[in-house]
Amino acid sequence: MLIGRVSIAHPVGLAPMEEHTSLPFRLLCKQFGASFVCTERIDAADVAKRDKRALKLLSTTPGERPAAGQISGADPAVMAEAARVVVEQGFSIVDLNFECPIKRLHNRGEGGALMADPPAIGRIVAAVVKAVDIPVTLKIRSGPDAERETAVEIAQLAEQAGAGAVDVHARSVAQAYVGGPDWSVIRRVKEAVSFPVLGSGGIREPGDVVRFLQETGADGVAIGRGCLGNPWIFQQARSLVLGGSTMAAPTHNDRARVLLQLVESEFEFYGNYLALKRLPRVSCYFAKFLPEFAAFRDAVQSVRNFQDFKRLVRSHFV
Ligand SMILES: Cc1cc2nc3c(=O)[nH]c(=O)nc-3n(C[C@H](O)[C@H](O)[C@H](O)COP(=O)(O)O)c2cc1C
Repeated sequence: MLIGRVSIAHPVGLAPMEEHTSLPFRLLCKQFGASFVCTERIDAADVAKRDKRALKLLSTTPGERPAAGQISGADPAVMAEAARVVVEQGFSIVDLNFECPIKRLHNRGEGGALMADPPAIGRIVAAVVKAVDIPVTLKIRSGPDAERETAVEIAQLAEQAGAGAVDVHARSVAQAYVGGPDWSVIRRVKEAVSFPVLGSGGIREPGDVVRFLQETGADGVAIGRGCLGNPWIFQQARSLVLGGSTMAAPTHNDRARVLLQLVESEFEFYGNYLALKRLPRVSCYFAKFLPEFAAFRDAVQSVRNFQDFKRLVRSHFV
């Protein structure tokens, strides 16, 4: 698949997830075969001001390319300026978030609030396309709620405005993350536009990826919660999609090794203080398969540095 000039090797990639898709996590997903990755959503106003925290979230390295940096906002000029910063940081693609359901954004008319205003999205996309020379993509939902499906109209307007692809999360904004996704909206979008259509929602097993691609006709699939603590899903799904065989599930030993690799790079990237704050969430996704998960979850609260954590993992993942 080609998004603008950017070539994507196969259809299985990583969905952006706030607080989860850190640079270390994205690199891990690449290592396991994700064909594309994206940062979490970052406020365009902060990015445009080159706020320190926003720039940290917009860190990238050549090893994760092709990678997208994702911004959200409602003001075309601010979005255009933020997109220029995404380019400066070294990303291959700038992704515009029109899907986030959180109230704070909604009240500002940003993120998912814009799913009710397709022409506004068209104007933002046009302004950003004009501002940068890398592909511009957008992340949308089916519509604001179950009664209003605006995804098709938005995808068409975005294509006319020069976007390189659309990524549809097959739930409405009102649904947030609850309830089954309705993949049929992705097929309707795919039939209405000529640029690449990616989609997400409800992928939990490698086999779901194959079913998703068949049912929707989409060019790609972004795996969300199904890869948390489980980057193996990328190599398993890629193998199925490319006609290979089913791969064996990871052992406890594999899980321990990969978790330690991820956490070590989180300590390097964030420093001790922030890495410790993130540690329970990052590690519990990997540990939820353990028979003694509850004991691990309690013990991780007392970890003070990476050495402590190594000892904890060695004593639980046996
Ligand atoms: C905790 C969490 C955070 C998310 N953050 C973002 C985000 O920052 N930007 C975005 O475009 N989508 C975000 N999403 C949506 C995912 O990219 C994806 O579309 C969705 O999770 C797919 O559904 P699934 O988790 O059922 O597979 C988030 C999802 C979750 C669960």
